[in-house]
Amino acid sequence: MKFVITGVRRGIGRLVAERLIADGHQVYGVLRPGSTADDLDLAGSVHADLAEPGSLPAATSDLTRSIDRLDGLVHSAGIIGRTLLAENSPADMQAIFDVNVLAGAELVRCLLPQLRHAAGTVVLVNSTSGLSAGPPLSAYGTSKYALRGYAEALRAEEPRLRVTSIFPSRTATDMQRELRAIEQGEFVAEDYLRPSTVADLIIQALLLPDDAVLTDVVVRPRARPRS
Ligand SMILES: NC(=O)c1ccc[n+]([C@@H]2O[C@H](COP(=O)([O-])OP(=O)(O)OC[C@H]3O[C@@H](n4cnc5c(N)ncnc54)[C@H](OP(=O)(O)O)[C@@H]3O)[C@@H](O)[C@H]2O)c1
Repeated sequence: MKFVITGVRRGIGRLVAERLIADGHQVYGVLRPGSTADDLDLAGSVHADLAEPGSLPAATSDLTRSIDRLDGLVHSAGIIGRTLLAENSPADMQAIFDVNVLAGAELVRCLLPQLRHAAGTVVLVNSTSGLSAGPPLSAYGTSKYALRGYAEALRAEEPRLRVTSIFPSRTATDMQRELRAIEQGEFVAEDYLRPSTVADLIIQALLLPDDAVLTDVVVRPRARPRS
């Protein structure tokens, strides 16, 4: 099967790509211009800065010419950006929305004929911040609420597609390191979800039998037993 994934160089997106490739699927990765993922056996790459969603029609044109069906698209790339609403100018806010929301939406739009043809699955990697927004990730949470709304609207508009929103809580990746630095707290990987667990859930959504759709998946770390 064929999949397009954003954020394949690091974190959750990378693990999804690794696992799909290991299972024999063809994965097309979206990478920043000039960036490579040499150690990933990608079927192809789309080079695009997701902070510029308007660049995606041109960036995806080779891909859309070369494939006529797409089984799944995962928008995993995301940024925290500036934290508090009081610190965010419209331009700052736009920068967060560009990567977290508009790039995913534009990628879906560019690949819609291929997704429709395959009755494909779109997985939007949201966050528990998309269920309950507030400091210190106020602007990020606002963008994730928008992504949740986008997922619902896409599901209603494109009944042939499956649309999944996944809402992970804290996950042990570079993004969580960045957040812990903002919070001036220690990074304790064992307190957070493993990125491989989130990747597994995304793959389940992509490969679910065709009679069903996982619409909204909320995943949080389970309490660690006290020693
Ligand atoms: N980690 C958490 O605690 C957590 C919790 C809930 C939800 N999430 C969500 O999970 C998703 C994946 O996060 P992660 O933890 O895997 O993050 P990560 O380790 O920080 O990786 C982020 C990925 O996004 C890519 N990216 C960011 N800006 C980009 C741009 N302008 N153009 C192209 N690619 C760009 C990065 O590419 P480069 O490698 O080139 O920089 C990287 O591959 C995000 O949507 C995030 O909001 C994360």
